[in-house]
Amino acid sequence: MVRILNYKSSSGGMSKRWYQENKRDPWRRDAKSKGYRARSAYKLKQIQEKFGIIRKGDYVLDIGCHPGGWTQVAVEEAGESGKVIGVDLLVTSPVEGATVLVGDITNDSTIGEIAREISGGALNCVISDISPRLTGRYDTDQAISLELSTMALDVASDLLVPGGGLCYEGLPRSGDRRPC
Ligand SMILES: C[S@@+](CC[C@H](N)C(=O)[O-])C[C@H]1O[C@@H](n2cnc3c(N)ncnc32)[C@H](O)[C@@H]1O
Repeated sequence: MVRILNYKSSSGGMSKRWYQENKRDPWRRDAKSKGYRARSAYKLKQIQEKFGIIRKGDYVLDIGCHPGGWTQVAVEEAGESGKVIGVDLLVTSPVEGATVLVGDITNDSTIGEIAREISGGALNCVISDISPRLTGRYDTDQAISLELSTMALDVASDLLVPGGGLCYEGLPRSGDRRPC
């Protein structure tokens, strides 16, 4: 489908400090040992426990799904009668039980592809922790994150059933301590 970006850092790889910190991270280790691709899987699990946003049989769209942690959890929650579609700029390795697309959510062709996947029907739930390629300038990153969240909201309003759910995580405003 559309654009694929290379998310490698300008130095060509992860810093030693980043690597050591991540190796020590207990959530990351636990996620890995349980077969989840990212520690973010636990974030969605906690949201699910608290709000029950995904129900068995739901049609779910995961916007910004790479490497697939949220998609894996969505598949567990929607069950075999449900359908989970993930989309990302980056190629996501196949997730069992889900359909993963490569595409830019800001492109109409990507929305068309998603609509085809649900045969012109509707979604029950849209989940997203889409995030831009960070520049390190907080205001810029926050503005792009806000724009992406608006896109997720647009997609949700177009494709959700009435009363369907949207769960979005974006960069907090500077000064806020928790993600919005
Ligand atoms: C924090 S990661 C998602 C992690 C994922 N939810 C998981 O649990 O594995 C944010 C993702 O948003 C994707 N992204 C950023 N802009 C996008 C766009 N315009 N369309 C689709 N995906 C985008 C990035 O490629 C990145 O993989």
